[in-house]
Amino acid sequence: MKLNPKDRLIVALDLPSVADAEAMIARLGDSVSFYKVGYQLAFAGGLPLAQKLVGAGKQVFLDMKLHDIGNTISRGVESVAKLGVTFLTVHAYPQTMHAAVDARGDRGLRILAVTVLTSYDDADLAAAGYDFTVPELVAERAAQARDIGIDGLVCSAEEAANLRPIFGPTGLLVTPGIRPAGSDTGDQKRIMTPAAAIAASADYLVVGRPIVAAADPKHAADKIVAEIAQAAT
Ligand code: C5P
Repeated sequence: MKLNPKDRLIVALDLPSVADAEAMIARLGDSVSFYKVGYQLAFAGGLPLAQKLVGAGKQVFLDMKLHDIGNTISRGVESVAKLGVTFLTVHAYPQTMHAAVDARGDRGLRILAVTVLTSYDDADLAAAGYDFTVPELVAERAAQARDIGIDGLVCSAEEAANLRPIFGPTGLLVTPGIRPAGSDTGDQKRIMTPAAAIAASADYLVVGRPIVAAADPKHAADKIVAEIAQAAT
């Protein structure tokens, strides 16, 4: 699968209102073709905005990290599929992943699994009752996701190189924690440049603040797309 460099950049619309998001989308114009809508915007009118973006020919990643009983997951995924979005996240629990994959059927929606949240370390897992280290649990869940037919994984770019052999050559690896050289890291702990993430076999890069908080967001997006294009050749 050869993706267009521009389509590999997903801009996280981590903004408080639809008005703010629409202003950012207008500033970014044709430079950006793929947007991520998370909790903050989804619960502030972001779902109709997602549909509007799809109607305007953009792709949307709905980052809802779903986890519930199978029946509830199935019904939710059916409703999400009707929005026309491209990616939806679920937590990588086998029952949840099975229900999501079954409900998406052969529609265009792609299900991404979150293996272990990147804010978790081994002590957090122990506190949550797991007898695994983070790398062990990430690898175990990636193998389960592959066997269940999950379309992609959300992982740090650092994890991508290790997950590629487990998840296989066609599984999608979607990586946040991207920082162009010289930009602010913010609260991200495990960061990589766009070029390094592509080299580590990431398919899609999720970028928030380096674009939406930039003085010139369009220029920042263009520079990242150029870096992706260069790294992908
Ligand atoms: O602003 P920044 O580029 O750090 O934004 C990254 C985006 O990716 C945010 O929307 C964040 O919630 C999301 N994300 C992440 N780490 C994960 C999963 C999602 O940073 N493990």
